[in-house]
Amino acid sequence: MKNILTVYSLIWLICLNINLNANAPQKISVIGTGYVGLVTGTCLAHFGHEVICADIDSTKIKLLNNNCIPIYEPGLTELIKEVRQKHKLSFTDNISTAIKETDIVFIAVGTPMDTYGQADLTALYEVAKSIGKNINKPKVICIKSTVPIGTGKKIKSVIVNNMDPEIEDKNKLIKIVFNPEFLKEGSAIYDCLNPDRIVLGGSKKGIQTILKSYQVLADKNVPFLLTDITTAETIKYAANAFLSIKLSYINEIAKLCDAIEADCGVVAKGIGLDQRIGDKFLRPGPGYGGSCFPKDSEALLYTSRLNKRPLTILEAAVKVNQDQVKYVFSKFLNLIDNDIENKTIALLGLAFKANTDDIRYSPAIDFIEKLKTHNCVIKTYDPIASENMKLKYNDIFYATSAEDACKNADAVIILTDWPEFKHIDLKSLHEILNKPVLFDTRNIINTDKLKELGFNYTNIGNCRVNS
Ligand code: UDX
Repeated sequence: MKNILTVYSLIWLICLNINLNANAPQKISVIGTGYVGLVTGTCLAHFGHEVICADIDSTKIKLLNNNCIPIYEPGLTELIKEVRQKHKLSFTDNISTAIKETDIVFIAVGTPMDTYGQADLTALYEVAKSIGKNINKPKVICIKSTVPIGTGKKIKSVIVNNMDPEIEDKNKLIKIVFNPEFLKEGSAIYDCLNPDRIVLGGSKKGIQTILKSYQVLADKNVPFLLTDITTAETIKYAANAFLSIKLSYINEIAKLCDAIEADCGVVAKGIGLDQRIGDKFLRPGPGYGGSCFPKDSEALLYTSRLNKRPLTILEAAVKVNQDQVKYVFSKFLNLIDNDIENKTIALLGLAFKANTDDIRYSPAIDFIEKLKTHNCVIKTYDPIASENMKLKYNDIFYATSAEDACKNADAVIILTDWPEFKHIDLKSLHEILNKPVLFDTRNIINTDKLKELGFNYTNIGNCRVNS
């Protein structure tokens, strides 16, 4: 095993056309139709494979079968329509049938954080049990869900232990591959069709099969990194942790810039021009949120503690992120001279970032909680995330436009970097607000214009925004 791993570890495949059958359509099921599963299944169908997307949530499957896409993701609806017209993609709530009818099973179920900061693997193990019970021919199991390091190895035994005892050579029926997903919500289709890299960890035969699933990407010269399963699992966590650290770093620099009156936007540009640093993930803000960074950082820290190898820098980055929203709120209090009790506050943006309807770990939740403790009237607007927030709070106001939310408010806080907020008509905003107070936590509003119009305003990191 070690030899195989050594041989296959860190091989960059420049040309994968050596497989004569490389472009043959494969029969693939994708279990789990969340952001990762639905996007992966759709893209695999777009690559020409015959894909069944399966989910135990019958309501979701009914919606999908009626061409209603339950999540917002730019380009997804159109691509699903396209591949369904070509009969390349179907949806089912029958997991057993999906497994039986396919040779490759991608697992993309959620692995949310439990109360101890560990990933909750209940859904993943349920799928593994189903695979064991429904095994009818050799299959490659490709794990897309982000899983704690070491899970890939355990999954095989769960599958094997659930197979019919009569089956011989159980282990030979299953090949496990871990294929971490790096797509970002809001640009998931683009990321899936144009990835920076594909990482595959597992046995040689399993990897060979999944390479064929991604032949279209190999033809586009996307780099492939082939390795063992534990290394692939570590890559996923280490990548997200690195990005979390980068964000916490710039948020701390922004705090310093606030104090010394340096312009953090220019600082970020100045350091980002160094190619070793790069200009991405250097926008200060209210702290990172979403379904991945908070959860994955905690999960990696859990593994580090378990192995008595502290990740001190990551510990600090998580702490900085937890403190960031407190700092940002304290800046708001400062802006309004602590005169907050019973005030009407407009929140623009509920999603954790632009171009998504996802509100998981969104800074908007922290702000709503804090404003509630001060008995504020909370008026919100988000282009698409309001429906999700309504499931969490039914006692705040959901406007259908930014103007509607801001009318007669004592202050407006921009929490999500939606493009439509960037282009908001500041003159009209000034007129409809009760007081011209604006807090831009995403540094998207033109500060020259705010100044010119006489707003009382601030942003994060003392940035001069003039575009
Ligand atoms: C992330 C990873 O980028 C992706 O590779 C992985 O597969 C899943 O987790 P996602 O959570 O969809 O993707 O969003 P991302 O665009 O990475 O943003 C994460 C958080 O960082 C958001 O809260 C965003 O607002 C914040 N962010 C990002 C900043 O505050 N500043 C930046 O410069 C970039």
